[in-house]
Amino acid sequence: MQKLVIEGGVPLEGEVFLHGAKNSALPILAAVLLCDGETTLENCARLTDVFAACRILTHLGCRCTIRSHTVTVNVCDLRSDTIPEALMQEMRSSVIFLGAVLGRTGSCHISYPGGCELGPRPIDMHLEALQQMGARFHIHGGELDCTVPDRLHGAKIHLPFPSVGATENVMLAAVLAKGRTVLHNAAREPEICDLASFLRMGGAKISGDGESTIVIDGVEKLHGSTYRIMPDRIAGITYLGAAAITGGTICLRGTDAHPMENVLPMFEQMGCRLYPEPDRMHLLAPRRLHAVPSIQTMPHPGFPTDAQAIFMAMLSVANGVSVIEENIFENRYRHVDALVKMGAKIHVSGRIAVVTGTQTLSGASVSATDLRGGAAMVLAGLAANGKTEIRQISHIDRGYEAIETVLQGVGGRITRVDMGI
Ligand code: UD1
Repeated sequence: MQKLVIEGGVPLEGEVFLHGAKNSALPILAAVLLCDGETTLENCARLTDVFAACRILTHLGCRCTIRSHTVTVNVCDLRSDTIPEALMQEMRSSVIFLGAVLGRTGSCHISYPGGCELGPRPIDMHLEALQQMGARFHIHGGELDCTVPDRLHGAKIHLPFPSVGATENVMLAAVLAKGRTVLHNAAREPEICDLASFLRMGGAKISGDGESTIVIDGVEKLHGSTYRIMPDRIAGITYLGAAAITGGTICLRGTDAHPMENVLPMFEQMGCRLYPEPDRMHLLAPRRLHAVPSIQTMPHPGFPTDAQAIFMAMLSVANGVSVIEENIFENRYRHVDALVKMGAKIHVSGRIAVVTGTQTLSGASVSATDLRGGAAMVLAGLAANGKTEIRQISHIDRGYEAIETVLQGVGGRITRVDMGI
């Protein structure tokens, strides 16, 4: 087990190179199952979730090679349609393999995903949509058996909520299905567009991604290709936030403003100055951040729930009172206790968190509660006076590649320490 140790109070300064998006890499790695031959994915971040997805592919019978940030997958005949519980539990988003395995083999057996640190993780929308495409489900003792009596077929589907995972599962199931699938109220996140671009590269017929209605015409086969994963907008927001909370200045390389454009105005409202360029983004923080009247998390293009904890850390030291409303996950304030332990003034009532900015935070010993909550603690630690220790950092490693090395590169006094257990 490892922990992060941070000596706070140093304004960050310098350049960070942004890695590829976790939330693109995972569905795209599932999509690879649908492509015959060899697929090469570039800009694949070295994250524990990405490694877990590769282990699932290997278990199913693919040959997977990881060299630096390039993952090569060879799909011949799959030897299994079953993902064992241990592998399912390694990665919360493993349900994304359901649509791909079904699309490829016509059957799939997985363990039923339980709850997670963000609250219950229902998959009713995934199952209902796949059912409309001809899949049948049998749930028993925590296991989910899926079969397709005939070939999967296109359908007109309306999602009750624009779920990212359900949209991806429908896309994965539909690309090789018979006929046309029209998906209404689809998620519009940039990672959905990245998945669609990858599938199109392999020969899929998809249009409307990035909008509310996605149309997919099933094809007989998809082929392997070489594809570059988009930059990780949430990691980008995190590193901009790290500079902002420490009163620093940062150049984020490897991205333009586009994937983060729904969040950048919030940095400006807080007093940061942003200088976007075609392949990088500069942020110059004010002496002290300003509070914002309201942040409401919403499906894209609204403010992303994944950036909520990051902004809460920043608002903890801003001048004034801010109100956050979390509308996507019911249990996404678990980082609050740690921030309060570090001196933040936050009052939570249901979906609402009221953050009264304080001049300084102080270092403390805390535990990461989830991926973005853990990142928020890193930001708070960088801004705090004194030493912060963060345990349970496996949550953070799911979505940030070597976070300590990146932050050391911009002057952060942060180290990873082996706890020897
Ligand atoms: C994805 C992202 C995650 C992000 C989230 C919302 C990945 C790997 N993860 O997660 O980082 O925070 O989108 O932007 O891309 N829901 C149901 N029934 C369903 C499916 C979802 O009730 O069948 C609910 C969920 O409980 C949640 C909400 O819908 O409250 C949004 O979930 P969803 O968009 O599906 O998130 P994920 O795909 O799990």
